[in-house]
Amino acid sequence: MYKDESIPISQLARGKVLGKAILKIGANHAKTSVQKVFVSKQKKEELKLSTEYKNAKLLMDSLGELKGISIKVAQQIALAMPFLPPAYLEEMNKSFQSVPPINRALVRKVIKQELGEYPQKYFESFELLPFGSASLGQVHYALYKQKKLAIKIQYPGVAKSIKSDLGILKFALTRFAKGRNIDHIMNEISQRLYEEVDYLYEASNLDYFYKNFQHPDIIIPEVFFDISTQRVLASSFIEGINLEQFLATKPSQLKRNHYAQILFDSFFITLYQLQRVHADPNPGNFIFMADDKLGMIDFGCVKKVERAFLESYNTLHLSLIDGVDDATIVEQYLALDMIDRASMQEMIEFYKEVIKPLDRIYIEIFLEDSYCFQEHNDFSKRGFETIVEVQKKQLDSVHKLNEEYIFLDRTLLGYYALFEKMEAKIETKFAKSIMRGFASKESLFLFKDMMQK
Ligand SMILES: Nc1ncnc2c1ncn2[C@@H]1O[C@H](COP(=O)(O)OP(=O)(O)O)[C@@H](O)[C@H]1O
Ligand SMILES: [Mg+2]
Repeated sequence: MYKDESIPISQLARGKVLGKAILKIGANHAKTSVQKVFVSKQKKEELKLSTEYKNAKLLMDSLGELKGISIKVAQQIALAMPFLPPAYLEEMNKSFQSVPPINRALVRKVIKQELGEYPQKYFESFELLPFGSASLGQVHYALYKQKKLAIKIQYPGVAKSIKSDLGILKFALTRFAKGRNIDHIMNEISQRLYEEVDYLYEASNLDYFYKNFQHPDIIIPEVFFDISTQRVLASSFIEGINLEQFLATKPSQLKRNHYAQILFDSFFITLYQLQRVHADPNPGNFIFMADDKLGMIDFGCVKKVERAFLESYNTLHLSLIDGVDDATIVEQYLALDMIDRASMQEMIEFYKEVIKPLDRIYIEIFLEDSYCFQEHNDFSKRGFETIVEVQKKQLDSVHKLNEEYIFLDRTLLGYYALFEKMEAKIETKFAKSIMRGFASKESLFLFKDMMQK
């Protein structure tokens, strides 16, 4: 029934899969170059596009064969390299696929390798069939000291393969990057990947939120460090249904609003109170529980921000909401490293041309005290397109781009995409009061009030 041998794990096997694709890509390039000599300009464009599609497809097919880690890489690349041909990004979106589970014997073996003994030594019961699939592993249900736990187990070999995968991938991507230096992007991706395969890193993030984020409607799992390792993450089991199942129950408008509101508020509370946000608003990471509670899981991707950054970020957004003049906004973008110092006229021109569309998107939500995602169900799409446009234009200018700033905006858009699916209406008053409170350094009182409600 299971084919764990279908996950090519050894470096050689993985190298071969991608290597094949790279050879074919090379061949496709050569072929079009020859054809191009003989054809019209318009035809040339068409040829280029079709080659890009073929290459993108080839690369994605091989990433698909690599499964797990590389699909995660693919996601990151799509976000970090907006200049890639659209064909590539399309293929990337299609590439999400579930990885077949590893078999029972291997599950037992991984537990023994990681914890020292087979599961029966630690658990009153341990389901060898997974109930959930993770991007780099699978999740099992277990009973531990009378408690229901979710045990996430990483596929063997995943961590080891990052280095070779990244190397091969960089080689392949350089062809698409058209002479651009992609080192910093690759470094960032690799850093995030190393974090992602270290379940102890995730455990410490999870533990931090468990201990420091107290929200009356949010349940965060507790970590069991004594039975967690780099490849095994044991946390309390959160009982409930996922977004799709929730929507299938035809929940009332009130209920949908309630859940969207919790998510929206929690983004701003954690950003301003903890200087961290859950940066993976994937529907699978939120569990709809009984009594209108929301389970928040998967702290593999947590964004931390510095206080100084947050202050500039906040000042800017309040100025945008208050509609101050362009010159003031430009100064604030300077502080955020989104614009380089030049004459005011030049800066304003650049601002209007490149960054302003993103501002419009940001404040659209906040201009009124509520925003209805049912009426604006194209919002996140417009937002993501605007970010890509801004990134492209900025890449071609001398100005730098503050990745952190873009990252936060993009994460927020991920949350908005969920609200669209939920066809929810959110209230923005509380988020705005957090921002204003933070600006006037009253934030601590504010949070206390909120938590006592
Ligand atoms: N503590 C938990 N309680 C209930 N379900 C869980 C828990 N942890 C993980 N799961 C299930 O396993 C899936 C994958 O786990 P997750 O931590 O999100 O992995 P990944 O980081 O790969 O996305 C989740 O979408 C969820 O269905
Ligand atoms: Mg997840």
